[in-house]
Amino acid sequence: MKMKTPLEKAFCDQITLEFEASIVYRQLAIEMDVLALPGMAAWLRHQADEEIVHANKFIDHLVDRDNHPSIGTIEPPPTNVEDPLSAFQAALAHEQKVSESIRTLYRTAEADGDLDSRPLLNWFLTEQIEEESTVSDIVDRIKLINDDGPGLLRLDSELGSRPTRTTEDSQG
Ligand code: FEO
Repeated sequence: MKMKTPLEKAFCDQITLEFEASIVYRQLAIEMDVLALPGMAAWLRHQADEEIVHANKFIDHLVDRDNHPSIGTIEPPPTNVEDPLSAFQAALAHEQKVSESIRTLYRTAEADGDLDSRPLLNWFLTEQIEEESTVSDIVDRIKLINDDGPGLLRLDSELGSRPTRTTEDSQG
């Protein structure tokens, strides 16, 4: 069933935010490349791809329901990165922003009685718990490593071995 226009607009805003998240991750990947941490750069680049998968899930949902998805103006926040810790803290802050946005979208859909979007939004609520947890764990590990160079290189290597996902991977 086609969703009402205000709810459609809220979904379009979420699509824009997912693309914004992709750009944030891509910029953070660049910062890690600049710092000669290729594993972390690769991890963040894969995450940037995943955010596009997320945007596509919302786009597909709207098209399937005869709505009209559109991408709004993307204004990624500046990334003030001095080291890996500030990079992953920035990633975590953005994930928290996305999580709150999904919760707001869920509440808006519920208030509208829009049952059809529930499965998708439930998937995203679960996904955000995982995303925040994963990034938060990396932040904690970087804090533990502190100034230990070999420890940082080990973590960099570990993150660089993350299985590759692409924007064509529908599992997100
Ligand atoms: Fe699409 Fe990482 O939130």
